[in-house]
Amino acid sequence: MSKISSLARPNIVSMTPYSSARDEYSGEEAIFLDANENPYGTINRYPDPLQKKLKDRISKLKDVEPENIFLGNGSDEAIDLLFRIFCVPGKDKVLTFTPTYGMYEVCSRINDAEMISLPLNDDFDIPDNAVEQIMRIDSLKAIVICTPNNPTGNSLNTSSITKIIENFSGIVIIDEAYCDFSQNQSWTKQLKKYANLVILQTFSKAWGIAAARVGMAFADKEIISLLNKVKYPYNISLLNQKAALETLERKTEVEEKVKRVLEQRSIMKRKLAELNMVEKVFNSDANFLLIKVNNADKLYKELVRMGIIVRNRSSVVMNCLRITIGTEEENEILYKTLKQLDEQ
Ligand SMILES: Cc1ncc(COP(=O)(O)O)c(C=O)c1O
Repeated sequence: MSKISSLARPNIVSMTPYSSARDEYSGEEAIFLDANENPYGTINRYPDPLQKKLKDRISKLKDVEPENIFLGNGSDEAIDLLFRIFCVPGKDKVLTFTPTYGMYEVCSRINDAEMISLPLNDDFDIPDNAVEQIMRIDSLKAIVICTPNNPTGNSLNTSSITKIIENFSGIVIIDEAYCDFSQNQSWTKQLKKYANLVILQTFSKAWGIAAARVGMAFADKEIISLLNKVKYPYNISLLNQKAALETLERKTEVEEKVKRVLEQRSIMKRKLAELNMVEKVFNSDANFLLIKVNNADKLYKELVRMGIIVRNRSSVVMNCLRITIGTEEENEILYKTLKQLDEQ
């Protein structure tokens, strides 16, 4: 049995997946009387279950082979499926570095996999003794590392992550949802080196199509096969596959918009830091800023009252709000509102 199969739940390894009608025939010109669709209409046919066209485009863009790509209904789907594939409910555990993205914990609870939280250090980075702590945990199947991290915004130390991948024999999931806002190289470059590595990216952030729900997972082909085995057969609708293909066609325009967001990020970082109520604006490699204020709960409520919704993260980082970088106009309105409150 391969290393990956021995990590996965035995029932998942041994099961036969649903075989969809479209898996058996890949041509276009044919009479399709196999899937009980309505013969009339424009979106009457089931979509390609393995999203070949889209994967071919992503493959060229990311320099990753199509067989190493899984596409999910958002990267949230990939997180849930990975926990489902590798964690025996009620027995196996997953680990995250907190504070981090809340869905890891939600998915761990849904799958009845205990979540171990190791706190990030004072610089919001992986603590020095992380590997030692990890080695002491039994039945640990997966570690999720979010970089750049949500909600803190910083990228986590590359050598700490490498040390974890090289010493931990379970699955290491690196969530790069915000990587397009960072200057750092993607972990996809390391894919060939590590069979236990899964990298998550998404079309929801820099690519600007959150409503379409398309997420990517890059990994060894054995992990990709397991993901394909467990997913719903037609997990990404035709409309959403098309939306992703279209946004890939507009790559230059998307890059321009990312640049504008980054310019706004540095403008907002400087302006927010000047306000009396703001104690700290943390460095960000993402499209949001985490700020520490004197009273986050109060400020959050005041902003809501004025029709501005930010994310109150004071329950996970004391007195902190997470502010997404909006358009120039939106950022200006937020800044003016904060300035007014600052002067009261
Ligand atoms: C770190 C992180 N990962 C994943 C996601 C979810 O992405 P998707 O829209 O692809 O499900 C988010 C969304 O906020 C996120 O912050």
